[in-house]
Amino acid sequence: MRLKDKVAIVTGAASGMGAATALLFAREGATVVVADLMEDEGRAVVAEITAAGGTARFEKLDVSSATEWESVVAATLDGYGRVDVLINNAGVSGSHPDLLNTDTWDQQMKINAGGTFLGMRAVIPAMQKAGGGAIVNTSSISGVVGQRMVHMGYNAAKGAVRTATKSAAVQFARDGIRVNSVHPGVMPPMRTSQMTADPAIRSKMMAAIPMGREGKIEEVANANLFLASDDASYITGAELAVDGGYLAQ
Ligand SMILES: NC(=O)c1ccc[n+]([C@@H]2O[C@H](COP(=O)([O-])OP(=O)(O)OC[C@H]3O[C@@H](n4cnc5c(N)ncnc54)[C@H](O)[C@@H]3O)[C@@H](O)[C@H]2O)c1
Repeated sequence: MRLKDKVAIVTGAASGMGAATALLFAREGATVVVADLMEDEGRAVVAEITAAGGTARFEKLDVSSATEWESVVAATLDGYGRVDVLINNAGVSGSHPDLLNTDTWDQQMKINAGGTFLGMRAVIPAMQKAGGGAIVNTSSISGVVGQRMVHMGYNAAKGAVRTATKSAAVQFARDGIRVNSVHPGVMPPMRTSQMTADPAIRSKMMAAIPMGREGKIEEVANANLFLASDDASYITGAELAVDGGYLAQ
């Protein structure tokens, strides 16, 4: 088991790649804090983990709230005594039809960029005290290149996640904290996807992927597992594309 005795907080763990990551981490021996805005779906993930013999709890979290982050980390430390891993996965889509919408820009900065910063800010002191930890931030192919149907706020926020990952990696390496980013490509649509959920648009997106198919949520969970585990013990500040070759073109 690659995460035996580790305690992991996974944000956005009620759905999609976060849920797949929480389930995989529990199978690999981690105690998992399923953190999300969506309570019923989050509790269902916890129930699935515990039914399979794993350990998990749900914590309601809006990643854009520093106060709520403090409560989640305090509850984790109270319950389990440590935080070894943070998967900063929660996010909202940028495939909004109005590409110049100001609210979308603000929302992207607040949730996708700000939420990632607040998560690192909340766990790093506990990791420093414990002598180390691993953080994986979910960026995207959109954090590296622009796309015609994605609001530039999403690209800018995911770009911020990519470079903030490198800042944190450099700043906290001497504390034994590794910080890396994962860059999923075209995956099943997010709950908040608009244009990129349209089947006609999706078939065009597939044509641009060297492997010719969308990714599976488990394929991103596997990348999160690798970077969170000691298998990646000398890897920090790195970006791992899980994109069927999209960024290699
Ligand atoms: N689906 C894709 O094509 C794709 C591609 C690249 C990157 N990503 C990124 O991967 C991550 C996961 O996406 P997904 O496809 O699993 O989407 P999803 O919509 O299935 O899951 C996102 C989760 O984040 C939660 N969330 C949203 N806002 C939140 C907030 N303020 N506080 C706490 N939780 C919040 C949602 O409730 C949901 O459970 C996101 O960061 C997304 O930007 C997705």
